[in-house]
Amino acid sequence: MKNTRTLGAALLLGSLAFSGTSIAGGASAEALSITCAGCHGYNGASTGPATPSLAGMSAVYIEDSMKAYKEGERNATIMTRIAKGYDDEDFAKMGQFFSSKPMHMAKQSAAGNMKKKGKKIHKKYCGKCHEDNGTSADDDSGQLAGQWAPYLKYSLEDSMSGDRDFGKKMKKKVKKAHKKYGDDMAPALLDFYASQN
Ligand code: HEC
Ligand code: HEC
Repeated sequence: MKNTRTLGAALLLGSLAFSGTSIAGGASAEALSITCAGCHGYNGASTGPATPSLAGMSAVYIEDSMKAYKEGERNATIMTRIAKGYDDEDFAKMGQFFSSKPMHMAKQSAAGNMKKKGKKIHKKYCGKCHEDNGTSADDDSGQLAGQWAPYLKYSLEDSMSGDRDFGKKMKKKVKKAHKKYGDDMAPALLDFYASQN
């Protein structure tokens, strides 16, 4: 029963003109989250590379991201349109569902050989908030280690251009790191994060 309803909701996503209210109407956390699997993978373990894994991130981070997408506060290619179909109660359920899954560390070959430099940069400028080399969900700041590099590259670019609001403190650190390492900063960090799998 649940499955047919979920499938219906998934199909509707493509054609509905969203009104801002929930199209899911009280569906369970699991039923809601299955509609995300086509892109984010089973249980939020994405097969990549431009769609991030959601598994094991903090519920708060997922909820806040969905709200920011819905309000148009966060830069996105597709998520703004998707988030508009749901309400805050749905977002809470999605956060609860994906945060309960084990974090997915994508198997990907690091693009280059700058992971040592990346580790150094991370420790000095990023590790205070992105704890345990970027694998901790306790800090409500997403997943860096083991996240898909092509997706992370977009996030990093947004952090440098200011297209996405990461908060003043992170912005300052990114700026400092960029000043010191220049064009090496992003590829070195991406190598470091991708090498943890
Ligand atoms: C059609 C593909 C697609 C579907 C379906 C989809 N997403 Fe996404 N999602 C993306 C892409 C691509 C991004 C990267 C941002 C962007 O470009 O929109 C993303 C980003 C996100 C992020 C940000 C992750 C981070 O690391 O900051 C969250 C949270 C998220 N999606 C949740 C969901 C949830 C919950 C659902 C189901 C209701 C869902 N998505 C359905 C493609 C999709
Ligand atoms: C003061 C704390 C802080 C520092 C320092 C910090 N960050 Fe962040 N970072 C955050 C928070 C909070 C978020 C979530 C922002 C949001 O809600 O969109 C985040 C999100 C991110 C994301 C997005 C993840 C995703 O899934 O889209 C990336 C990438 C990132 N940080 C990289 C870095 C890098 C690289 C550094 C060091 C140069 C750094 N951060 C330093 C707090 C910090």
